[in-house]
This record gives sequence, C-alpha cells and structure tokens, in this order.
Amino acid sequence: MNKLIFATGNKGKLKEVKEIFENTNYEIISLYDLGEVPEIIEDGDTYEANALIKAKAIYEIHKTPVIADDSGLSVEQLNGKPGVYSARYAGENCTYADNNKKILDELKSFPTPHKAKFVCSAVFYDGKNITRAFGELRGYIISEFKGTNGFGYDPIFVPEGSSRTLAQFSSEDKNEISHRAIAFNTLKDLLG
Ligand code: IMP
Repeated sequence: MNKLIFATGNKGKLKEVKEIFENTNYEIISLYDLGEVPEIIEDGDTYEANALIKAKAIYEIHKTPVIADDSGLSVEQLNGKPGVYSARYAGENCTYADNNKKILDELKSFPTPHKAKFVCSAVFYDGKNITRAFGELRGYIISEFKGTNGFGYDPIFVPEGSSRTLAQFSSEDKNEISHRAIAFNTLKDLLG
C-alpha cells in the first residue's frame, strides 16, 4: 500500500476522500491519525494555490506524499462569492449555519433561481512532483435549510437536475457527483 496523507482537518472531506480511495493501492492517512492538525495560513488567491500551500506545508512536516484540496462555493448573483473565503464567510470561528444564513440573507433581494457552483482543486505533492485535478458541481441555492448529512453549504445547495439538497444525499450518492469526487477521482486516475 502507498501511504498518502490527506492534508485536511475537515472530517466531512476526510470521510468523502477516504471512500474515494477505498479499494485502491493507496492508504489515506489523516492528520488526526498523525496526532496533530497544524494551523496552515491559506493566503493564496486561487483554490489551486491554497491546495498547494496545504500540501507543501504537510509534506515538509512528514516527508510523505500528500494530497490536499481547496474548495468552495461560488454564487452567481453574489459575483462568485464566497469563493476562496467559503470556510470563514461569516467571520473567524463562525459555524456552517452562520455561513449559510449569511448567504440566504444576501440572496433575499435577488430573484430565484440563485445559480451557484461548488468547485474543488485537488493536488498531489511528493516533494518533487505536483499533480493537479479539478472538479465542479453546478446547482442552485434554495431559501431554507434542508437535510442533515454532509457539511458546509450542503443544506442550502440543490444540484442541477435534483430535487434534494446535498445534505439530503447519502455520502455514497454525494460521492457520485460532487466537485470533490470529480477532482479526487481524476487525481486518483492520474496517479495510477
Ligand atoms: P477549505 O477547507 O478551505 O477547502 O474550505 C472549504 C469550505 O467551502 C468549507 O468549509 C465549506 O464551507 C465549503 N465547501 C467546500 N466543499 C463543500 C461541500 O462539498 N459541501 C458544502 N460545503 C463545501
């Protein structure tokens, strides 16, 4: 088995990515398995820059190949916001619910449908080589919270062609369509 550290402290992402690498030659090691989840300043301008910042920081600590991602939500009527600021949109130490409420408040003055997309940049880094992959999932923001699965903006996001929010999908079903699943499945294929 080839060990791959997944550079995230986000347990929602960890569950999804572990499922994607099940039944492969890769064993996903989490930062929790390694006993520390270091605070990494993500000050890149793009998802890819932030994913690389995380991958390189964790590689420097453990000297083991790393995968990392950076992802977020882009709402058309909000000119692409929250974008790279998705995690802390409602401020430092805010909850997922705070972020969702802020989006719903900001969208109140706009007509429906509220088009949005999730995007994900995934990278692999082994100290020398960088491999990059990308995924996106298009959909709509609805005006209330629905469902309890997943994390982040899942309760207010309905994928195109669906009548349920992502928080009403099982993690297996989310992994059939999500931006992160597309990015990491592509990365997995590129790594061979
Ligand atoms: P990151 O950890 O810097 O990539 O921040 C990603 C943030 O974007 C998360 O904290 C969520 O708020 C949001 N996000 C990314 N992917 C998803 C998803 O699959 N569902 C819901 N929210 C997501």
